[in-house]
Amino acid sequence: MRRNSLSLSIMVPMSTNLPLNQILVGDCVELLATLPAASINLIFADPPYNLQLRNELRRPNNTRVRGVQEAWDRFDDFAAYDEFTRSWLAACCRVLKPNGTIWVIGSYHNIHRVGAILQDLNYWLLNSVVWIKTNPTPNFRGVRFTNAHETLLWAQKEKGAPYTFNHHAMKALNDGKQMRSDWLLPVSFGAERLRTNGEAAHPTQKPEALLYRVLLASSHPGDVVLDPFFGTGTTGAVAKRLHRNWIGIEREKSYTKLARRRIDEIEPVSYEPELFDPAEPRQQERIPFGHLLEAGLLEPGQRLYFGENGKASARVLADGSLKLNGFRGSIHQVAKELLGAPANGWQHWYYVDPDGGRRRSIDSLRQILREGMKADARTKD
Ligand SMILES: C[S@@+](CC[C@H](N)C(=O)[O-])C[C@H]1O[C@@H](n2cnc3c(N)ncnc32)[C@H](O)[C@@H]1O
Repeated sequence: MRRNSLSLSIMVPMSTNLPLNQILVGDCVELLATLPAASINLIFADPPYNLQLRNELRRPNNTRVRGVQEAWDRFDDFAAYDEFTRSWLAACCRVLKPNGTIWVIGSYHNIHRVGAILQDLNYWLLNSVVWIKTNPTPNFRGVRFTNAHETLLWAQKEKGAPYTFNHHAMKALNDGKQMRSDWLLPVSFGAERLRTNGEAAHPTQKPEALLYRVLLASSHPGDVVLDPFFGTGTTGAVAKRLHRNWIGIEREKSYTKLARRRIDEIEPVSYEPELFDPAEPRQQERIPFGHLLEAGLLEPGQRLYFGENGKASARVLADGSLKLNGFRGSIHQVAKELLGAPANGWQHWYYVDPDGGRRRSIDSLRQILREGMKADARTKD
């Protein structure tokens, strides 16, 4: 795999004060306060779960289970955990762009508290996604169900803002079927799992497949993706592979070293828009020309002109066809008749704007309809 200059040009927007593609070492609440407001497209957060594990957990063969016993996962009580959650979620809200979104992953220990605080801070929940683990750790003591899933909450900063959701990419990723909110994926294993002295280097390293889906669904190449609990840098690794910019924040130096090495070793495939933002053109809703009449943006009898300065004109009929002298057909057929070659009518026909008398493309009217439909869909969501 090769690096190329195109990938660099998309990775580093020129006018930014952001520490792009870097790991900031320290407390995320303090460091988020140093970043410009409204500058981040997407946040993925995998915060401490507050598992409250006090005792070592062992398998039936007496080997130790790599649970989360680290100091960073300890809080005195729920009130302390809530206060921490409120402060980092508020700090994230400040740096998110108005149309930005945030994903937070958690387990039954913390996700309900996180969800309530997200809502208290006026984030608008878009989805709750269940990550079902194909290979969960069994409940060795046999006293409860095997804990086989985690929950991801996806929320937008401002209710109603036009956030990124790559619906077609998700559908394509799911063999042409709409992607559902239950994701069946294995936990991080094999070569992907970072190890030191044979032991997992981090107790909660997330699988790259999970981040791949999150980033592909809710960001575009060149976007800035921030992870305030970077750990081993899974978010950065996938962001680099998918040509997104990333910023990681992590308190523990030992993890930041691992993350940096991991990300440096990645050599992404050269950037090509078609490869990394493939669904973009198809995201446009198809709008038949007749819808402009139904919406009252054009009237039956009105004249359309062929080209911005062209002399030929046709009359619009009530059923959305055009009449040019004796010829009648769709905007495309009449354009073809005039050009003598296949034509996209949206690119050729102009109406006269009553406000100012200038010719404007009928495509601008289609855009008005699209925007209206998007706004309508958002209010229904
Ligand atoms: C659940 S782990 C994230 C694991 C990560 N998603 C991965 O795939 O490796 C949470 C991480 O947050 C870090 N952390 C905890 N509190 C923090 C804080 N206040 N600021 C920055 N990092 C923090 C911990 O050191 C830990 O690595």
